[in-house]
Amino acid sequence: MDYRNKIILAPMVRVGTLPMRLLALSYGADIVYTEEIIDWKLLKSERFVNDILQTIDYVDKTDGSIVFRTCNSEIGKVVLQLGTASADRALQVGKKIQQDIAALDINMGCPKDFSIKGGMGVALLYDLERAKCILKTLVDNLDIPVTCKVRILPEFHETINTVKELESTGIAAIAVHARTKLERPRHPPHPEVIREIVSAVKIPVIANGGSSDIHKRADMLKFRDACGATSVMIARAAQWNCSIFRPEGPLPIENVIHEYLRLSVDYDNSPSNTKYCIQMILRDLQETKLGRQFLDSQTLEQICEVWNFGSYCRKKQLEYHNAGIRGRRQACPRVQLYIKDDSLPTKKAKTIDSMLFDGVIEHNVSFIRVNYNDDKDLPKSKLYIYTVKNNLKIPKYEVIHKDKLFKAIVLVGDNKYSSSFWEKNKKYAEQSAALTCLLQLGIVKREELIQNGSMIS
Ligand code: FNR
Repeated sequence: MDYRNKIILAPMVRVGTLPMRLLALSYGADIVYTEEIIDWKLLKSERFVNDILQTIDYVDKTDGSIVFRTCNSEIGKVVLQLGTASADRALQVGKKIQQDIAALDINMGCPKDFSIKGGMGVALLYDLERAKCILKTLVDNLDIPVTCKVRILPEFHETINTVKELESTGIAAIAVHARTKLERPRHPPHPEVIREIVSAVKIPVIANGGSSDIHKRADMLKFRDACGATSVMIARAAQWNCSIFRPEGPLPIENVIHEYLRLSVDYDNSPSNTKYCIQMILRDLQETKLGRQFLDSQTLEQICEVWNFGSYCRKKQLEYHNAGIRGRRQACPRVQLYIKDDSLPTKKAKTIDSMLFDGVIEHNVSFIRVNYNDDKDLPKSKLYIYTVKNNLKIPKYEVIHKDKLFKAIVLVGDNKYSSSFWEKNKKYAEQSAALTCLLQLGIVKREELIQNGSMIS
């Protein structure tokens, strides 16, 4: 990866997901950083080749959420930013993911409590030995470039000393946010400190922190030159209007939202992430009639409808559905399952496989707690009442546990029922099994479940 003369989309939590990164590249960014992803999230994720979306997905096995999604269009241009305090964990992540990214960056600038308490982000600048150990371990053992993103320190000589120490680990470049950990975005950045860093080190320096005065591409170059830096990295100005990367000048935000929505639909981005990013673009406009209509929307289709884009979203979602796309909650261990069987004299776990589910009636329903205000409306309560009223034996639940995921089978009458989804705890698994039974018996309606998000249409 060449870090010279590059215009870069900065790492931004929630903003730097695939649609925004692709949008930035399409408008003229040369390199795009992911949002910061914490090491253990990547470690417990599973890599899938998604043939339907043509993406590589790292999926959280416990809830099916996408931890990191990438695709061919960003090959050689996507830098994954890692939040870590451990050389060991960072290396495990690096080895797991290096085939899918262009470079690995370590976050050494985040001033949030969550990061600092975990010894991550800016805490690493105050624990230089650990910071160097992480970088050196990665540099020595990975096949891709390793970088870090730092803030400046209150004392000038400390900043220079720290950056030189970090450089000594063999990193390929360093991004510098020209503010100290206590300075907020409203405070002016310190380009003169970056200038001194540039003279003190040999590696490329990426200048960051100038968004308040950046309204077009030429302003980015101006900030880079004021810092004397090799490249420039933009966060907030791109979050507000990603088309600022365009050499021809920025576009109206309606165009940007339209293009962003198209990418969100094409890459099946989650509605909550899509909504967040659009809120960041709309800012004050959320107070308008259109803004309020947008805030009321929940599904991707409803969000798209606000910009008259609903039919494209419907068409695409149907296409993916027919192709058999995995639902976001459909993360399912593909390995054999073990169930504790007290009948075995050895008390050993008995190996079971999908045979266990033979003859079990399944539906794609999941239990979403917020849908139930009153305990008596819970699927298990409803099912219990149904069995009592119909003189049936009360429902009997059997729970299977694997990889911190749970699935329940409920016996009602002569039939067994189970949701095809894995749930994050035993209670939820039983509730979703009960919900499956209620659906099969016609006690709850399919439309109602689709409406409240418990079922994928
Ligand atoms: C950030 N920033 C940030 N930095 C980082 O290293 N990792 C991250 O995940 C995030 N997340 C993040 C989210 C959001 C919404 C914002 C606005 C910022 C900091 C960011 O990358 C950058 O350093 C600062 O915003 C300063 O650059 P600008 O905004 O002046 O270009």
